[in-house]
Parts: sequence; C-alpha cells; structure tokens
Amino acid sequence: MNERSAKDRFEFGQNWQEYSALVDEARIADAKRRLAAMLQTDDLAGRSFLDVGCGSGLHSLAALRMGAGRVVAIDLDPRSVETTRALLERFAPGHGAVVKEMSAFDLEGLPFGRFDIVYSWGVLHHTGDMARALKAAAGCTKPGGLFAIALYGKTRFCGMWKRIKRWYINASPDRQARAEKTYVSLFGAYLLLRGKRLAAHIENYNRKRGMDFHHDVRDWIGGYPYESIAPDELVALLEPLGFAIVWKNVKRRSGLFGSGNDEYLLRCAGSSPS
Ligand SMILES: C[S@@+](CC[C@H](N)C(=O)[O-])C[C@H]1O[C@@H](n2cnc3c(N)ncnc32)[C@H](O)[C@@H]1O
Repeated sequence: MNERSAKDRFEFGQNWQEYSALVDEARIADAKRRLAAMLQTDDLAGRSFLDVGCGSGLHSLAALRMGAGRVVAIDLDPRSVETTRALLERFAPGHGAVVKEMSAFDLEGLPFGRFDIVYSWGVLHHTGDMARALKAAAGCTKPGGLFAIALYGKTRFCGMWKRIKRWYINASPDRQARAEKTYVSLFGAYLLLRGKRLAAHIENYNRKRGMDFHHDVRDWIGGYPYESIAPDELVALLEPLGFAIVWKNVKRRSGLFGSGNDEYLLRCAGSSPS
C-alpha cells in the first residue's frame, strides 16, 4: 500500500455498531455502576453531561438513567453517532439528548456552552493531538464542575503498540482477524502463567463498564491514532487551566498486552454549579 492511500485512523464506529447488539439491561447496570464509581455519585439529577467520543452511546445512556438533565454526546465517527442515536432510542425513548457528529477539537468554540460534567473515556488519546483535545474538552467544564477522563497510561511498550496499530489499520481483514487471534492466544498463555483462565477473564469482562472482551481486543489493537500519558504529565497540562485531581484509578502495568486506561476525576476551580 502506498503512502497516499494509507489509512490514518481506525474506524471505531463499525466495532461499536456490532457491539451495540449485545447491550442489555445487565450491561447498562454495569455501565451505571462504573460511571457512578468514577463520578463518586449515582445521582446526576438535573446535572448537564457532555460525552466526548460517545462510541456506542452506552455511557450517555447510563447518565440519562442516572437522572442527568441535559445530555450532549459527540463522536467523530458517523457510525458511532448512528449507533448512539439507535441505542438511546431503544433504551431511553423520548430521551431528549443531543447526539452530534463532531470532533473534540470543535469544542474549542464552546458550541454547546459549559457542562456540570464532561466525560471522555478512552477517547482523547485517539484524536491525533491529545494535549489539544484535552484542553478543548476541559474547557467545556463549568467552574466547580467535573472533568472525568480515561487515558492510556505510559509504558515501555507504547512505541511497539503504535507500530502494531498503524500496521493493523492498513492490513487486510484476514490479517486483522489473525492478529486478533494471535493476541488472544498470547494473552491466554500469559494469564495461564499467572494461574488464571482466559475463559473466566472473558466471562467477567462485561462487569468492566458493560463492555465486551472481543470488541475491546479489536478496539485496542486497532485504536489509532495512539498516544499515552503519565499522571504527572496530565497534571502539568491541566493544573494551569484550574483543574485538580479529586480521584484517580491509575494502575502500574507492564504494557505488553495494552497500555490500560487510567481514570481521573478532576474538578474545575470555581464555585460548584447549581
Ligand atoms: C475507544 S472508543 C471509546 C468510546 C466510549 N467513550 C466508551 O468509553 O465506550 C473511542 C471513541 O472516540 C471517538 N473519537 C476518536 N477521535 C475523536 C475525535 N477527534 N473527536 C471525537 N471523538 C473521537 C471514536 O470514534 C470512538 O468512538
């Protein structure tokens, strides 16, 4: 493949569209539980919620079910947007949320104003300019509001994964399928060495935010553009904008099978939104 026709990003939307067929009340309950843990509350009554890079729409749905007042969901990928609209229609008919095809960078102009909660899980490291996207999304938070993000942590395997991901997005479907199979086999062997079983890991996987193991494997291997960030680098970027970390879930990982998403909840300086 020549440079001209080389793809420069993974089409997340197709994966989300396939995944969305699996969504049921149990997965919604898991998504709600994890969202509540991250936001430190299960009551979003009357609070505005912006979902940047909504993917399947599962977490916008969870926010609606937790009582959020105004919900806006955006995603760059038209199929993610289509999937989110369909999912909300299916599980929250008459929801009133706004779902738009739009880049995180477009938030720089504050097209929807500011929100009590800005949520962006596993997204801003896929934009091609994570620092700019972080600032754009953070800027949508009201004074006193919450900025909840998950970003790939830095490991010594980040460079290797960047090359694998760039290869994957330009590989044939056959080769992509083989890469996914190889990853799952190697991961299974790694778990076995640690006395764990892959089957049990897969069975428990949807408890992780209502997601699905096999769709997440594709999302991980394909997810490009790709960047990662260490906690001190995040603080250096957001502290000058008036944000302070109030909760975090940062794990040390080898990074061999993935960078893993580190979760952060930050509060914007200023008085709390009403
Ligand atoms: C790994 S998925 C995460 C989806 C969802 N937040 C979740 O937690 O399930 C990343 C999503 O970010 C979207 N995305 C990538 N670049 C984007 C950008 N510049 N602006 C908005 N969304 C973007 C992708 O289309 C994809 O749906």
